[in-house]
Amino acid sequence: MDRLRIEGGRSLAGAVRVSGAKNAALPALAACLLTGSEVRLDNVPDVWDVGTLVKLLDGLGARAERLGTHRWAVSTPEIASPEAPYDLVRKMRASVLVLGPLVARAGRARVSLPGGCAIGARPIDRHLEGLRQLGAEIRLEHGYVEARAERLTGALVDFPDVTVTGTENLMMAATLARGTTVLTNAAREPEVVDLARLLRGMGARIDGAGTSVITIEGVEALGPCEHRVIADRIEAGTYLIAAAITGGKVTLEDCEPGHLRAVLEALAKVGLRVETGPSWIRIGNGRPLRAIDLATEPYPGFPTDLQAQFMVLMTQAGGSSTIDETIFESRFMHVPELRRMGASIDLAGHAARVEGPTPLTGAEVTASDLRASACLVLAALAARGETVVHRVYHLDRGYEAIEKKLAGLGARVERLSDR
Ligand code: UD1
Repeated sequence: MDRLRIEGGRSLAGAVRVSGAKNAALPALAACLLTGSEVRLDNVPDVWDVGTLVKLLDGLGARAERLGTHRWAVSTPEIASPEAPYDLVRKMRASVLVLGPLVARAGRARVSLPGGCAIGARPIDRHLEGLRQLGAEIRLEHGYVEARAERLTGALVDFPDVTVTGTENLMMAATLARGTTVLTNAAREPEVVDLARLLRGMGARIDGAGTSVITIEGVEALGPCEHRVIADRIEAGTYLIAAAITGGKVTLEDCEPGHLRAVLEALAKVGLRVETGPSWIRIGNGRPLRAIDLATEPYPGFPTDLQAQFMVLMTQAGGSSTIDETIFESRFMHVPELRRMGASIDLAGHAARVEGPTPLTGAEVTASDLRASACLVLAALAARGETVVHRVYHLDRGYEAIEKKLAGLGARVERLSDR
């Protein structure tokens, strides 16, 4: 298992290119199952989760060919076996994104239930209820979801709470259903909008993506398409915080500032100088940093996927900050590790209270999930001395070439491999 060794205390400076969004690339790859024609995807990030989904597609009968570091061509002449096995779903919950496309295209799917994960129970009941409303027969057996439908039928699906992959699964399923589907209380995330753009390119009829009501008129078949995946707003936010926490000056290139409004507003309130252009964001030194309160919310609110990283920033800000995690019930796995590095954080239910500024010192720490690992890397950049982050595979799931990108900005970071 790889580790990262980081020598903290250096201000980051320079420019970094933001990769394509993992959370947009995964549904895009799953959507390729909806057609027998070739779909070409560009700006796909070179991260492990993409590799996992490609492996899953391969087992289902798709041919995914890599045309370049970030370019893929996927075609699925037919679904060979509509099964997503435990081994892959266990590695990556987003594997559940193949459920909707499989039922819609093959009339049948067998997908392992994801089970618990480090950040809470994360059930998929709303995906299943939605598919039932489209007429699928759903059974849970031996830890698997078995879904069947000769052809799905359009329906009104009202989500009791916002779910991102739930919205994506249902939107994909509905593209091939008979009649019209209306999704209400749908997720408004940019990744949902990007998926709708891809599906429309393939010939789907979708209106309202980006709002909480999405209307999908089913069609008989979908066709070929070329699509460029949007930039990763979470990766972008992570590098902005890396710059902020080290008192650095960094320009992000190839990003979409409009997708980061809540994050940029929070950073400005903390006292950082943020400038934006059409596809770039520049963040400048803003010491002293001020503590602010924050709550995670569905888009356009502050993303839960940047909560852990923002918490590290608050350890370096003056005053007391309350961070309310409203999306996931137990997404504070990073807190004990941050405390070991010197942070002062109290937990009460779904809120964390951070007192700052506290000097951080390097330590050996262990990553527990993707975003928690990113937060430990940020803490290491701000800390005095050396930090070793264990279980870096969590980071590799979603951050492309993180040590190279950080080193390019002047960080002292090195990957240690046991292999
Ligand atoms: C997606 C993102 C993830 C992000 C999350 C919230 C991908 C691949 N992943 O995850 O990075 O952290 O959105 O922005 O895009 N829930 C249920 N039943 C369901 C579905 C969800 O109870 O059927 C709950 C979840 O446990 C969670 C909340 O709803 O508490 C939101 O989850 P959801 O939006 O579905 O997250 P994901 O789509 O899994």
